[in-house]
Amino acid sequence: MDEKSILIVEDDEAVRRSLYLFLKHKGHRVECAEDGLSGLNCVKQNDYGVVITDVMMPNMNGVQLLEMIKQIRPLTEVIMVSGYNDLQLAIDAMKKGAADFITKPFRYEQVERIICDLQSRQVGSADRAVDRAATVDSRLERKIHELSIMYSINEVLDNIANIEELFKNLVDLSLKITEGLRSVFYLYDHEHDTYYLRCMKSKDEIDRPKMDKLDPHIAERLSVNPGSMILDTPDEIAFYHLAAGPHPDVQSVLLAPFYVRGQNFGILAVENKLNERGFTESDVTFVNMLLKKASLVIENRALYETIYLNLVNTLRSLVSTIEAKDKYTQRHSERVTKIALLIARELRCAKEELDVIQFAGMLHDIGKIGVSDAILQKPSSLTKEEYETIKQHPIVGARILEPLGMLPHEKAIIRHHHERWDGKGYPDGLAGRDIPFLARIVSLADAYDAMTSDRVYRKGLTHEMAVTELEVNSWRQFDSAIVDAFKSLCARMGEQVKLELE
Ligand SMILES: [Fe+2]
Repeated sequence: MDEKSILIVEDDEAVRRSLYLFLKHKGHRVECAEDGLSGLNCVKQNDYGVVITDVMMPNMNGVQLLEMIKQIRPLTEVIMVSGYNDLQLAIDAMKKGAADFITKPFRYEQVERIICDLQSRQVGSADRAVDRAATVDSRLERKIHELSIMYSINEVLDNIANIEELFKNLVDLSLKITEGLRSVFYLYDHEHDTYYLRCMKSKDEIDRPKMDKLDPHIAERLSVNPGSMILDTPDEIAFYHLAAGPHPDVQSVLLAPFYVRGQNFGILAVENKLNERGFTESDVTFVNMLLKKASLVIENRALYETIYLNLVNTLRSLVSTIEAKDKYTQRHSERVTKIALLIARELRCAKEELDVIQFAGMLHDIGKIGVSDAILQKPSSLTKEEYETIKQHPIVGARILEPLGMLPHEKAIIRHHHERWDGKGYPDGLAGRDIPFLARIVSLADAYDAMTSDRVYRKGLTHEMAVTELEVNSWRQFDSAIVDAFKSLCARMGEQVKLELE
């Protein structure tokens, strides 16, 4: 056997290539295979010391490959890599003889450390079988502990609602996984190049007062050595006191820099282990995992929000473009949104409902993208077929916005803003309270703006005439409670309503 040789079996070319280059750079002899079957062929031909294999692969998956390797080359150590944090899979793989189980995304240094441990054991052990039996249980136990920590990190961070919650969970989880006494998160302010205290949790009775800023020297020290560090010598602790404020009881500190997209984002400081021994390398690994995951959460959210906002802005400008083509419909959606918001406030709608109207009101006619200009701008009355085409726009609109993962209320406004109280509207012929409430509000606002706007073939109604028309159609086209709310709004605001719309 060539203990120093390594085989990487991975179908993702980018992962395979980068891990190959990293291990090669570190002086290992490395070969690659792109799926389970070609991995197996390599193993038949060469006696590798270590095989690193992905779990999910075409042709033959990693667990099947592991079983085959253990039959052909029982002494070859196999490290499994999976994109899923699946505890059961890890236990199964290790029972089948895997030496370790790593969850993606992994750090190359972590993989190399495991490889080196395995290689030194291979070289140093005279009786590999005895050695394996003696260590497999403790490795399995360690792995289960590690995976359950990973699992709880993922479980918590995948479900956070906002950045404040993320900071709170960072300090919370860092205490849990390291069994630390206190955890403090400092957020980096790029503008002032300073770390400000953002969140703190202590298992003490009292939260200790802290300096609200971290001394920049500590950051300098972290940037010289970019990575987490344990401070436990008297000199280091004295240095920490200077930076974070004097706390005589501090004996050991785990300091971890937090980067997002390679940019400095903050520093997490965990003080004192509850068992009063110092922090260990495994604490550092766990805190790094936590920060890595938190960083991914921030990146994905930021990315998603950027894409989402870009898309929404594009759609909004598309609506404005459609409306601007016809001077009679210019800024229609903007006015409908304003009127609908005024009515919703009059009806004391919750802030969340106002947000829904603000979003969906601007896009309620987005489905008109699918209707030709010839029909939209036709100066005379529409034929039956043309009207049928127009009637599709709420359905088309809801479909266009579907991939945006809109909330049900927003979708309901877009789909149902042409329903009528008497059930004679479109597209679904819903009646009365079956029509979603916010859609009833937007429907009235839409009708009011349409009535008061000029058309090629007619002059728009005056405000008073339009209100009378709404009253006449109370219980027929409109929800009378919403008509009443609009009237009382007009009575109170008078001309102001019209000014608001200009
Ligand atoms: Fe519409």
